[in-house]
Amino acid sequence: MQAIVLVGGEGTRLRPLTYGTPKPMVPIMNVPFLARTMERLYEAGIRDVILPAGYMPQAIVDYFGDGSRLDMNITYVIEETPLGTAGALKNVEQHITGRFFVLNGDVLTSLDLRAMLRYHDEKGGVGALHLIRVDDPSSFGCVVHDGGGRVSAFVEKPPKGEEPTNEINAGTYLLEREILNFIPAGRNVSIERETFPKVIAAGKDLYAYTTADYWIDLGRPENYLAAHRDVLSGAMPLTVEPGISGNGGEALKGHPGVVPPVHADEDVVVDASAKVGPNVVLGRGCSIGANAVVRESVLWERVSVGSGATIEEAILASGATIGPKAQIGRGSVIGHDVSVDPGQVLEPGSRLGPPVRA
Ligand code: GDD
Ligand code: MG
Repeated sequence: MQAIVLVGGEGTRLRPLTYGTPKPMVPIMNVPFLARTMERLYEAGIRDVILPAGYMPQAIVDYFGDGSRLDMNITYVIEETPLGTAGALKNVEQHITGRFFVLNGDVLTSLDLRAMLRYHDEKGGVGALHLIRVDDPSSFGCVVHDGGGRVSAFVEKPPKGEEPTNEINAGTYLLEREILNFIPAGRNVSIERETFPKVIAAGKDLYAYTTADYWIDLGRPENYLAAHRDVLSGAMPLTVEPGISGNGGEALKGHPGVVPPVHADEDVVVDASAKVGPNVVLGRGCSIGANAVVRESVLWERVSVGSGATIEEAILASGATIGPKAQIGRGSVIGHDVSVDPGQVLEPGSRLGPPVRA
């Protein structure tokens, strides 16, 4: 069994984080997200993974290599220009041997891939689509199906108020090789806007696999923070101890200003008068100065927070430096190696990026 993880998107909604780190390598609980996905695939018995990439592929190749470190076999296929979510599959056709999983590279979920495979075996057809119910389906692919699960319509990102259903495409497919016959070669093709509608129009069977699993698309800053909150609270089952956790957690236990849940990597220094938490993740080598306050935020590696600075509901990429007494408003996203001046006040929702290295 093979899996194709789509990792070619530019991650525009996560900028400026994705100027320095491609979206699949954005860390979740201090580990590149794609590594979590690989673990899930491994647990489902999948060893053969194809990665259609294009945006900053080297960062992915450098981390995973040929996959042997994970006891897996990884094939990279780099797109010169983005081929879209279906074009990317067509482009790796020569590597596909039978039916295969397709995973959007930015989805955190507790979905049981083996159970989905069993469902597909029962139902047959060209493929099975994992669906999830959401309150606001308009920013997703809406999937309409009958009582037996047979899909009758796939409507990608319908205008608000015109959603035909609240069951949305959760970005995991199990597809038969036959689907490739519905994808033209050599151009950008969207599986959501073009291929699935075409398969349905041809009268072929696609089946909906709706579950109540934990599910979130990490591609937006607010979701990225929500995902961390959910992992820290245990709502999303990733093996994280409750309370104060991580390789650097032990050093923070007993610290009067650390309010759990907090997850910290090695070599983290938190001043005795600083306040950290709840819902804070600190990457390796972070330092939090005297009287600084960090709440509801994710700090990547080597982030330095000056004395008296306050950070709330923010994401700070590796190497960011926050000057003393600076204030980082809620929802702010700070890019790699960016410095915020002492005393600087960032409005809520600020995005402060490094010079674009596109
Ligand atoms: N190789 C490659 N080439 N990968 C791509 C390309 C491309 O041209 N374009 C996008 N991808 C990858 C992205 O990296 C991501 O992992 C995945 O395909 C989906 O792209 P997103 O840009 O994240 O799409 P979305 O979140 O707006 O919508 C998709 O996901 C929703 C669920 O999260 C759609 O599949 C929706 O139907 C779905 O509901
Ligand atoms: Mg997405």
